[in-house]
Amino acid sequence: MIYSRIAGTGSYLPTRVMSNAEFEKRLDTSDAWIRERTGIASRHIADEKQTSSDLALEASKRALEAAGLAAKEIDLIIVATSTPDFVFPSTACLLQAKLGVAGSAAFDVQAVCSGFVYAIATADSFIKNNMAKKALVVGAEVFSRILDWNDRGTCVLFGDGAGAVVLVAGDKPGIHASILHADGSQAGMLSVPGNVNRGAICGSPFLQMDGQGVFKFAVRVLDESAREVAAAAGLTLADVDWLIPHQANVRILDAVARRLKLPAHKLVVTVDHHGNTSAASVPLALDEYVRAGRILPGHRILMQGVGGGFTWGSSLVTL
Ligand code: UT7
Repeated sequence: MIYSRIAGTGSYLPTRVMSNAEFEKRLDTSDAWIRERTGIASRHIADEKQTSSDLALEASKRALEAAGLAAKEIDLIIVATSTPDFVFPSTACLLQAKLGVAGSAAFDVQAVCSGFVYAIATADSFIKNNMAKKALVVGAEVFSRILDWNDRGTCVLFGDGAGAVVLVAGDKPGIHASILHADGSQAGMLSVPGNVNRGAICGSPFLQMDGQGVFKFAVRVLDESAREVAAAAGLTLADVDWLIPHQANVRILDAVARRLKLPAHKLVVTVDHHGNTSAASVPLALDEYVRAGRILPGHRILMQGVGGGFTWGSSLVTL
């Protein structure tokens, strides 16, 4: 049996840090409101010229270095993003070129904030089926580009960044199991309902959201899919060392950990200083805790995504 395992992690955050105080100057909001309702204190914002593939490149270089691999050894690149550089080619192809290599398969996954978990499950299947041996899996976003900066209900929530992992084939897990779901009937709850039509923006280019609807939906499906993936892996939630849910809102994270009866010290929280970075949030959080020496080889990690689509999923991994 072939399994895949994480051989290295990396991440990158744009240098500009935006605190809640900056919103207070422009909008009818406050640092206290944002912290109390979301747990967010600051987020990183890409500069005008930085694209998702630029952020992905830095995260990928760090993940490759941690794995001790050269870019030319990678035979599969998957980038999870909802803020691609272009309509096409894919951000994965642009990343491949920026890494200075060619020949591997490269494509994007679009599952919004579940994108990284979708991409991990996809790469794991490629490796298990002997279609790839060394995969670079990236979540990269510049959500600052799709926010209405005058809408206090959404613009305070998000940030930019990228996280990456290198997956390699091995004879033991690694990735024990992944579970993916979607419910397209809930598409309107969180969306950027626009496109480009004959040179004009058709619909809205800005993120729109039913915040309370998303909140309730997220807590329910993160709870359900955690139990589902543990059962699929033949493990229990007591076997989990770290829970890394999509970093949307600290109140969502706390509610999920409580429902799963996981103690607070097993919950990974980075949303306070990253904001919600959509598909980048889970690999950013993973890399931060690995580099801090908190998540260690042998630890069991439950990674979870939930977001627009609606999409959700979980992946249970031994580092
Ligand atoms: O990847 C998934 C992405 N989405 C999410 O994770 C969103 C999940 N939902 C949430 O995080 C929360 O629902 C929010 C943080 C978005 C909102 O918190 P809430 O406790 O659900 O507040 P609310 O929507 O019930 O709004 C309460 C009040 C409203 O005013 P009124 O109608 O009571 O007068 C809002 O207009 O808070 C107001 N409000 C704000 N006030 C100050 C909304 N945004 C702000 C703000 N500053 N930034």
